[in-house]
Amino acid sequence: MVVSPHILFHNCYSKYAIAAVNVFTMEQIHGLFSAGEKANAPFIVQITPVSRNYAHPKMLIGMIRAAAKIYPKAKFAVHLDHGVESHVFDAINSESYDSVMIDASHDDFNQNVKRTQAVVEKAKAKQIFVEAELGVLSGVEDDISVDEKMAKYTHPDEALQFVNETQCNSLAVAVGTSHGAYKFSGGQGIQFDILEKIQKLLPEFPLVLHGGSSVNHEEVNRINKSGGKLDKTASGVAPEEIIKSISYGICKINIATDTRILWARIHREFFKDNPDQFDPIIPGKQYIEAYEKFMLSKFDLLKATGKANQFN
Ligand code: 13P
Repeated sequence: MVVSPHILFHNCYSKYAIAAVNVFTMEQIHGLFSAGEKANAPFIVQITPVSRNYAHPKMLIGMIRAAAKIYPKAKFAVHLDHGVESHVFDAINSESYDSVMIDASHDDFNQNVKRTQAVVEKAKAKQIFVEAELGVLSGVEDDISVDEKMAKYTHPDEALQFVNETQCNSLAVAVGTSHGAYKFSGGQGIQFDILEKIQKLLPEFPLVLHGGSSVNHEEVNRINKSGGKLDKTASGVAPEEIIKSISYGICKINIATDTRILWARIHREFFKDNPDQFDPIIPGKQYIEAYEKFMLSKFDLLKATGKANQFN
C-alpha cells in the first residue's frame, strides 16, 4: 500500500526514521518489499537517473507495482532520487511517483531556489512531494581549511530562507556525510551542531540524510578475501550517529552503498567457492535472502520495525 511521504514523515518525526533505499534490480526489490512486510516497517523505494538508464524507467516501476501485489502488507512510497528537471518532470507526468528530488545543490543559492520553485509548482499541482538539497555533499578531507569545510555544509540560516522561498516539502542537508564507500576520510562524522541549528530554525520540518550507509567492515573484509580490492579506508555512518540524527529531525535516511557491498560479497564468495557454477539464480536467491536480513536489521536500527500499523 502506498503511503504519502507527508504522512510518513508527520508520524515518524523525532521518533524513528524511514529507510529510503535505491533499487536497480529485481533481487533488491524482492528483498526490500519482503523485509518491509516482515518487519511491518514503512519504507521508501528510490529510483535514480542511473537506475532508470540501466533498467528502463518502465521496468523499475513495473517491478515495484508487481512487488506491491506480491507483498500486499508492505507500506511504502516511490521516490525519484537526485533528479534534474528532465527526470523530475518525466516522473511527475508518469504519475508513478509519490515524491521527487530536485538536486540543484551544485548551483548557487539563487539558482537552486529558482529551479526548486519550478519543480514545486508542477509537483504540488499533482500532490507530489518534493525533496530539495542545500549544501554540497562530498567528502571533507583533513587538509582543507575550516572555512572551506564550512562552505560545503548546509548553512542553517540559508536552510530557513531556502525552505521559505521554495516551499519544498523536505530538505536534504549536507552535515558531513557523503555518498559511497569512503565517507569520513577525515574522521569527522556527522556535524550535530549544524543539524541542531537547522532543526531549531525549521522545527517539525522533515530533514533528509543522504549518504546513510554504514559500510560494514566485516563485509568489506569478506569481499577482499574473495579477490576484491576495496580500500581499507572504506567507512560509513556509525549506528549511534544514525540513531542520534533522528532526534535532530532526520526523517529519511538514504541507503545504496550497503546494498551494493552486499551484492559484491555474495557474488564474489559464491563464485570463488563454486568455480564450476554459472547460474545467476543461485547467488541471486542468496542475495535476496541476505538483502532481506540486512533490511530487517536496518529497520530495527531506525526504530521503524512495527510502525507500519500506523498506516492502516
Ligand atoms: P550511500 O552511498 O551512503 O548508500 O548513500 C546513498 C544516497 O544517499 C542516495 O541518495
